Amino acid sequence: MEMIDAHAHITNDCYNDVDEVLERAKESGVTKVVCSAFNLLSSQNAFSLAKKYPNVFANVGFHPENVGEIEKKSLAEIEKMAKDEKVVAIGEIGLDYHSEGFDKEKQKEFFVKQIEIANALKKPIVVHSREAMGDTIEILKKHPPICPSLMHCYSGSLESAKILMNLGFSFSIGGVVTFKNACSLPEVVENIPLDRLLLETDCPFMTPVPYRGQRNEPKNVVYVADKIARLKGISIEEVASVTTENAKRLFKI
Ligand code: NI
Repeated sequence: MEMIDAHAHITNDCYNDVDEVLERAKESGVTKVVCSAFNLLSSQNAFSLAKKYPNVFANVGFHPENVGEIEKKSLAEIEKMAKDEKVVAIGEIGLDYHSEGFDKEKQKEFFVKQIEIANALKKPIVVHSREAMGDTIEILKKHPPICPSLMHCYSGSLESAKILMNLGFSFSIGGVVTFKNACSLPEVVENIPLDRLLLETDCPFMTPVPYRGQRNEPKNVVYVADKIARLKGISIEEVASVTTENAKRLFKI
């Protein structure tokens, strides 16, 4: 059984054992890991990891909570790295209205600017949207990505999912779907066609049951695959195989 972790933060400080993390992933059938970034430093680190390990691929970009860090040269550096073939998407980018003190206009401005970088390079975007689905959809309608793209850690409604599917989006599902307080997510996942779903850990966060509370790592996508299989009443092998093909097609890996 082969799986791909479509969204992991293995550049995070808590991983001083990346070799072992990737070895355990491989032993569990996770053949490829897409390492996502959230600012310039994490983009550079994801880039370095992708250059070091054949089965690691990078996303580069500024998370909406970090757009305040963007300096004049930052986006040029993102763009420069993004030209490399091991950088498979611009991400994670988007809108996040959860934390206090965010600058809505600045988030929107740099969301659009980073979509434009992706479009110029003909690469997909990986979108983070938290408590901002209305504005996220509005921007994506006005500035659609030209490549089929990804909503990461999706937690929106089925109605929003339908609009996003029409804009070419797939959805990566993480450990939240295994939580008891997952709200409507299991039902939404049940109703999204399997050919639009990818597996992710978003590690070190969002550790799926039965390891909730511990540090997450790519090998744990199997618990997400298992939950999706049970929701859809299909085999875990089918979930693994279809989501792996979806990830390979979307990221061209
Ligand atoms: Ni993330």
